Amino acid sequence: MKTEDIAAVIDAFPIPVLLIGPDERVRAANQPVDVILGTDLIGKHYITALRQPAVIAAIAEVRATQSRKAVRYTARTGAKDSVFRVSVASADGDIVLTFEDQTAAEDAGQMRRDFVANVSHELRTPLTALLGFIETLSGAARDDPAARDRFLGIMSHEANRMTRLVDDLMSLSRVEEDERVRPREHVDLGALLSSVIKGLEPQAEKAGVAVSLDLIGVDEMVPGDAGQLVQVFTNLVENGIKYGASGGIVSVTLMPRAMHPRVRGEAVQICVADQGDGIAEHHIARLTERFYRVDNHRSREVGGTGLGLAIVKHIINRHRGRLLIESHEGQGTKVSVFLPTGAAS
Ligand SMILES: Nc1ncnc2c1ncn2[C@@H]1O[C@H](COP(=O)(O)OP(=O)(O)O)[C@@H](O)[C@H]1O
Ligand SMILES: [Mg+2]
Repeated sequence: MKTEDIAAVIDAFPIPVLLIGPDERVRAANQPVDVILGTDLIGKHYITALRQPAVIAAIAEVRATQSRKAVRYTARTGAKDSVFRVSVASADGDIVLTFEDQTAAEDAGQMRRDFVANVSHELRTPLTALLGFIETLSGAARDDPAARDRFLGIMSHEANRMTRLVDDLMSLSRVEEDERVRPREHVDLGALLSSVIKGLEPQAEKAGVAVSLDLIGVDEMVPGDAGQLVQVFTNLVENGIKYGASGGIVSVTLMPRAMHPRVRGEAVQICVADQGDGIAEHHIARLTERFYRVDNHRSREVGGTGLGLAIVKHIINRHRGRLLIESHEGQGTKVSVFLPTGAAS
């Protein structure tokens, strides 16, 4: 085939393709190659064009044996490194290189490993504490009723923390599973919010926090999954109680006909605002990551798992809604949920 014809063919490929001629020089390269190797490659020797020893060795081997081979290639594309799987194959005296981007797959693998490491770490801490107290109770503290009661209290606290963690992990995996399935029920948000707040009353009282509910406008019905929306608002109000200042107020407001640039059509907005210490700007974008906490110690102390907002985010995505966290240090935090009503704006 003539070089122009070959160039036309490889230009049709969406992935980077590069051709080395029998003279060991680059004969053709399509446009996606530019990002990885730069422009002006034609006519260059493949050693100068490709530079990485693994690929150069693979090309030499494929030339000698007329076989095919795949190697890893790391390229600096933009701000970060990308990883490619390069297939080297011989074709009628030429060598054809194709580059498949593996970066996303490798990132996903890394995330999975991090997640497993995090879960193990989170479970190990309470487990270590439990084992320690069991040992103490069967030995030194065996006949000390006061110590026994105190230790049993701590053990129950730790066991509860593990239960919550396992519950949250199970919710997270359920929520991820049906994220693409649209909710089918219709939910009365006013009634749902009242019942969530009622359920959290004992916790609020214990923390010295008052929770107020303000329903502006008529009762709002939105398409949604009631069980999941209960989870969303329980977590947000609970966060307000846990991280809001003691003696303060957590105010919950439901507003109809809200607008959000990224929600299609009409939406309702539910705000949960507290009077706590607030959250520093650089943490805000990361709060919905699994296990991300501003203050690990404080979160564990108040029984947090660090999974709440990750679950919230998934549920809101499923509802095609939006989550907005606004906070100023020292002035409290306001979390807004926008849910589409299904009506056109
Ligand atoms: N209202 C709030 N005020 C201050 N910090 C908050 C608030 N809500 C959440 N956070 C921070 O975000 C983190 C993640 O929240 P979440 O995912 O619900 O985890 P958890 O409540 O289990 O700690 C919390 O650990 C806390 O540091
Ligand atoms: Mg929480």
